[in-house]
Amino acid sequence: MVNPAEFIEEKIEEIADAVGEQNAVIGLSGGVDSSTAAALAYEAIGDQLTAVYVDTGLMRKGETDEIRETFDYMDSLHIVEANDRFLEELAGETDPEEKRHIIGEQFIREFETVAREVDADYLVQGTIYPDRIESEGTIKSHHNVGGLPERIDFDGIVEPMRDLYKDEVREVARALDLEEIISERMPFPGPGLAVRIIGEVTEEKLEVAREANHVVEEELEEYEPWQALAAVIGKATGVKGDNRVHGWVVAVRSVESRDGMTARAQELDWDTLQRMQSRITGAHENVARVVYDVTHKPPATIEYE
Ligand code: XMP
Repeated sequence: MVNPAEFIEEKIEEIADAVGEQNAVIGLSGGVDSSTAAALAYEAIGDQLTAVYVDTGLMRKGETDEIRETFDYMDSLHIVEANDRFLEELAGETDPEEKRHIIGEQFIREFETVAREVDADYLVQGTIYPDRIESEGTIKSHHNVGGLPERIDFDGIVEPMRDLYKDEVREVARALDLEEIISERMPFPGPGLAVRIIGEVTEEKLEVAREANHVVEEELEEYEPWQALAAVIGKATGVKGDNRVHGWVVAVRSVESRDGMTARAQELDWDTLQRMQSRITGAHENVARVVYDVTHKPPATIEYE
């Protein structure tokens, strides 16, 4: 990338030329990539762009409200409340790949409904360079609304950031004046908290995972991790008050990385670890213990599923 200002100017022109007088649609995930692509596309084509945010119920705490506030300036922001449908589809499913598949399918279905409604001719995507190399397989297919181009006959797909790395996307986001909460946001997987819950996704596990992820993001801000997360990884015995409980085990993970392909577990101080432990076990009656993951990638992945 040359410099953010020139990049922005060039891409605005490119998007405007590609889309012309037609309509385009973009899926907003709350992450920095899609948010930056949406802001660029909006600069280029204004109200010809419809931004679609699907609230899957698997999002981070407060994420839907943040999206609503940040993109309120856009003429056509669609927020689709789909959490009930996602939970219903996921009920009883424990296989990680099946869970991803269900979420990807449902996501496409929700997105497709809006894209048809607004008669979208173009699809704008926030694909970045590492997505293209890592997702030759299936790993991130849903993140970039994979599958949509086959199901809806778009005239074209626009990927303004396809050659950028994450840190360059952040530079562009800052130059576009996107709020810090977005431009500095950690990466978050497309399937959301579902890949931070081992086994079946239930309302209770979601509640635990959502609050624990919020605690981790807050407590580890000063460490500036590339990514930090909490996952509900199983059950174990604990003592709460006078009772023994068979409660949830929450794993905390914090890593340094450039592009997520390899990562190093971060060294944290004891006080920080204990503060997270105390807040996470205190937040829900059924959390029995908190563990810290010291594994690098490889051999572990960053997410738990
Ligand atoms: P892993 O867990 O494979 O993750 O080490 C590498 C990076 O990719 C993110 N990730 C995903 N992103 N859809 C996504 O959009 C997915 O299914 C998915 N799985 C992992 C992960 O959060 C990390 O940043």
